[in-house]
Amino acid sequence: MNFLILKKCCLVGLFSGLLFYSVSSSIADDESSLDLFQKRISPILRSPKASSCVECHLSGVDLKNYIGKTEEETFASLRSGGLIDMNNPDRSKILTFIKRAPEKESPISREVRKKEFEAFRAWIRLAVRDPKLAAAKSGNDQLGPTLPLEVIRHTRKGRIVKSFVENIWSEIGRCVNCHSPELNRNKIGRNGHTKEDVDAISWVVPRNPSATLDMLVESGNIDTDKPQLSSLLTKPVGLEKHGGGPKFAVGSRTDKNYRRFLNDYAAIINGKYSKLEQLPEEPDEVAVLTKQQLRIVDIPARLDKKLLRVDIYKQLGRGWSKTRWATAESLINGKRHMWQNVILVIAPRDSARAKKMKPNISVLPPGRYLIKIYIDRDDRTKKNRDYQLGKREFYGQVEIQGEWKPGYQPPKIIQAPVRD
Ligand code: HEC
Ligand code: HEC
Repeated sequence: MNFLILKKCCLVGLFSGLLFYSVSSSIADDESSLDLFQKRISPILRSPKASSCVECHLSGVDLKNYIGKTEEETFASLRSGGLIDMNNPDRSKILTFIKRAPEKESPISREVRKKEFEAFRAWIRLAVRDPKLAAAKSGNDQLGPTLPLEVIRHTRKGRIVKSFVENIWSEIGRCVNCHSPELNRNKIGRNGHTKEDVDAISWVVPRNPSATLDMLVESGNIDTDKPQLSSLLTKPVGLEKHGGGPKFAVGSRTDKNYRRFLNDYAAIINGKYSKLEQLPEEPDEVAVLTKQQLRIVDIPARLDKKLLRVDIYKQLGRGWSKTRWATAESLINGKRHMWQNVILVIAPRDSARAKKMKPNISVLPPGRYLIKIYIDRDDRTKKNRDYQLGKREFYGQVEIQGEWKPGYQPPKIIQAPVRD
């Protein structure tokens, strides 16, 4: 029974798809472009529903922006904006905009898009033949989005997913054991967790950062009103009770990345950007998680819970690399006199090294390295989560040589530099 329903729906989907692109809708000869405009274009402007554009443009772009109060105004403005092609109406740029669909189109947005497309195409075909419209002059107000192009680009879904990948997905390896449905099945039945409990926290969609982001928003784990209070951040950073315990420290690089993404995402959703200057700057480095572990031993107990960062430089020729090749940042365990963390490989954004980096696959190659250690003894990152450890926090450095196996056993172990 279910199978039959499924089959029927797919056939209908396929059929409407064919209609959309190959069979042109018939235009009744006696229908004027004005009738068409009033019947099919104006309602789009008045509709409380968002247009198809918002599937990719999360802020500032809507088909409604392109529709004026009258037919003349709309036509003249679209024409002077280069969005209507007088000689080849079916090639008008506004139609290209409407036709753009994501790879996986939902049936509802497909319907909306089809309706918009057919309405505009039918109207433009008639309108270009109307001498009265061809003579219409556009006023001072150009229709279309009022935001600068840079803002339109910044708030596009594809760009947002790229930022999600850089800031959050690049370290998803810290979360997947418990939050990916592919890896958390062994949690069912343990500590009284039912299958439903485990399914309820399976917000990772394997190999699909875009769907994972949608899932995090739908499940309320991203709070677009108070982004800093999103469970996605407060739980793993240890500001709220978390079944998985604290996964990264307040003020650490990961905390900064999570907050960068969440603040930007909320600003986009809430339409906060209107000027180029308001857009956040991209960090000039990109990084991904490796599976290589670094342990520093013999750290004085008084440094318990202080944030420690390592920056790792590779020997190239006779000197050290100018930029860091790896980094890691987390709290010191004073009781055990040690610090341990998995390292991230890191590189300048546009470098050849950055282009080759893959989460959980990239490793630091064998070689000779300089490890610089920074410790936040005065807890500056706790008071200001954006504070960057620098010269003031430099603690010492250690050189290492050789291969470095991924995994916990054994980690790479180094001795903390001795200080008075
Ligand atoms: C499937 C995703 C998608 C949909 C749906 C979509 N766009 Fe776009 N849009 C893009 C992409 C990709 C770009 C290119 C952005 C860039 O250059 O960085 C873009 C760019 C734009 C720009 C910037 C100017 C330009 O020519 O590049 C405008 C304006 C625009 N789209 C309007 C619209 C309108 C209006 C709609 C709805 C009718 C729409 N878009 C629907 C993906 C989409
Ligand atoms: C060792 C297992 C484990 C790891 C690893 C882990 N978590 Fe969790 N997480 C849990 C458990 C168990 C819960 C459910 C109890 C709770 O809400 O704290 C949870 C809940 C959450 C929730 C709320 C989910 C919901 O829908 O209610 C979020 C968000 C979350 N974790 C984020 C993260 C992030 C981000 C990471 C990686 C940086 C991470 N967790 C790593 C075990 C883990």
